[in-house]
Amino acid sequence: MESNTHSVLSLTELFFLLISENKRPCLKFSELSIKDSLRDLFNPKMQMILIMYTRNNLNCAEPLFEQDNSLNVNFNTSKKTIWLIHGYRPLGSVPSWLQNFLKVLLNQDDMNIVVVDWNQGATTFIYNRAVKNARKVAVSLSECIQRLLKHGASLDNFHFIGMSLGAHVSGFVGKIFQGQLGRITGLDPAGPKFSGKPSNDRLDYTDAKFVDVIHSDIDGFGIKEPLGHIDFYPNGGKKQAGCPNSIFSGIKFIKCDHQRAVHLFVAALETNCNFISIPCHSYKDYRTGSCVDCDDFKKKSCPMLGYQAELWKDVLKERKKRSLNTTVFLDTTGTNPFCTYYFVLSIVVLDNTTKDGIITFRLLNQLGRVEEPRLYENNKSLYKAQEVKILAQFFNDVVNISSIGLTYQSSHQHCSTCQYRIQRLMLKSLTYPERPPLCRYDFVLKESEEVFLNPCTCKPEEI
Ligand SMILES: *[C@@H]1O[C@H](CO)[C@@H](O)[C@H](O)[C@H]1NC(C)=O
Ligand SMILES: *[C@@H]1O[C@H](CO)[C@@H](O)[C@H](O)[C@H]1NC(C)=O
Ligand SMILES: *[C@@H]1O[C@H](CO)[C@@H](O)[C@H](O)[C@H]1NC(C)=O
Ligand SMILES: *[C@@H]1O[C@H](CO)[C@@H](O)[C@H](O)[C@H]1NC(C)=O
Ligand SMILES: *[C@@H]1O[C@H](CO)[C@@H](O)[C@H](O)[C@H]1NC(C)=O
Repeated sequence: MESNTHSVLSLTELFFLLISENKRPCLKFSELSIKDSLRDLFNPKMQMILIMYTRNNLNCAEPLFEQDNSLNVNFNTSKKTIWLIHGYRPLGSVPSWLQNFLKVLLNQDDMNIVVVDWNQGATTFIYNRAVKNARKVAVSLSECIQRLLKHGASLDNFHFIGMSLGAHVSGFVGKIFQGQLGRITGLDPAGPKFSGKPSNDRLDYTDAKFVDVIHSDIDGFGIKEPLGHIDFYPNGGKKQAGCPNSIFSGIKFIKCDHQRAVHLFVAALETNCNFISIPCHSYKDYRTGSCVDCDDFKKKSCPMLGYQAELWKDVLKERKKRSLNTTVFLDTTGTNPFCTYYFVLSIVVLDNTTKDGIITFRLLNQLGRVEEPRLYENNKSLYKAQEVKILAQFFNDVVNISSIGLTYQSSHQHCSTCQYRIQRLMLKSLTYPERPPLCRYDFVLKESEEVFLNPCTCKPEEI
């Protein structure tokens, strides 16, 4: 008896201690398991919890609304709010990417983050049930948003980031508010049950003022068709670099491609490397060098995957008005931070050649070390005064370029006496568009013979 009373007292003491320091237990994302998925077969349940983080409570989540229905004092209605929405979770676990995602976002900007925890509802063996619940989540969420609006928050300041099914939840919320949300980012929006559906039944660009989508598993859990103002297809959107190829790798094989969209979005915030992406009709065209142009875009640089994508909002909306889909491509490495470095080399010849050929180049850094790129190239004909562009991907950045090694190889019979007068060569970093381009003027290229050129600054009228 004695000891029992004692322990009750100390618990009460602890409680008052917490209250007096104005502290309370941190809110936790619902941790469920495969057992809950089983239970759901017979006893379906659905619950939505809104978990709030700000810079004031980075390590300790709080409820968005208090018990008495008042708004959490840490929520600042004049700041931007990110809503993070997960997808289908048959195993019920806490999303592995969640904690780091929060940290990286709050490091980027002083804002409110609301994690929409609908684990109870997403944890089910019946995918169709989770799909139906996604609609319900959107409705509950929109009611909470109405309350926030009454407190002075604005739809324009809301950025929804939805993973898989969560991307469609975001879309449904956007429809309820007639496209007035500021932004929706879809991270590999779910494909099954959504592919080929009309825009009302899935995420669509009309759901927010700006909708950007990353597709990383279009032949699996993701959706193939473009949905946003811009659609990024890293590595073509199918087979992600570094993901296991066989089912023997277990769960990793199943999720790796699908989750890559999240990891790329986070990596783009974490590294200073820009995930520049090239507009192109198809991945095949991109890989064979048919797409190298960024001239249609803001500041003549191509859109960047991730948080920064919004910088291209105006030009992308303009393209959408002309009913153009903007599908963009990039190749990544297989490990975090997934970054590679893109350069474009362009050449203008003085005289026509009649033959097709291949131009190759490599770069030497200031220590004379050679960096070999992967070239995205097809046979090119060189025509007088027509610019020929070649896209190249490097695995190491070359900041200070001491020399460019350039070769021209005709596709037909080798011609040792053939030579070509080059009016101008220009090399630009796409990854870092702020770097000034480098040029060389008026030189001769002999067939099949590598020429090393020390680049100089370009004539101002050409930049
Ligand atoms: C809320 O955010 C605005 C804009 O950043 C800031 O000016 C204001 O001081 C903040 N209010 C509080 C209570 O922190
Ligand atoms: C744009 O993508 C949509 C699919 O979301 C497709 O229905 C439409 O035909 C595409 N438009 C063009 C011009 O390719
Ligand atoms: C170069 O090729 C273009 C395109 O075929 C042609 O119009 C032009 O007349 C040619 N110029 C010379 C000098 O051969
Ligand atoms: C490039 O050159 C500049 C100036 O010479 C130097 O400060 C910088 O460290 C070099 N960068 C690299 C990556 O070598
Ligand atoms: C370029 O064209 C030639 C002849 O038409 C062909 O033999 C060669 O394979 C082509 N090369 C590439 C990279 O397409």
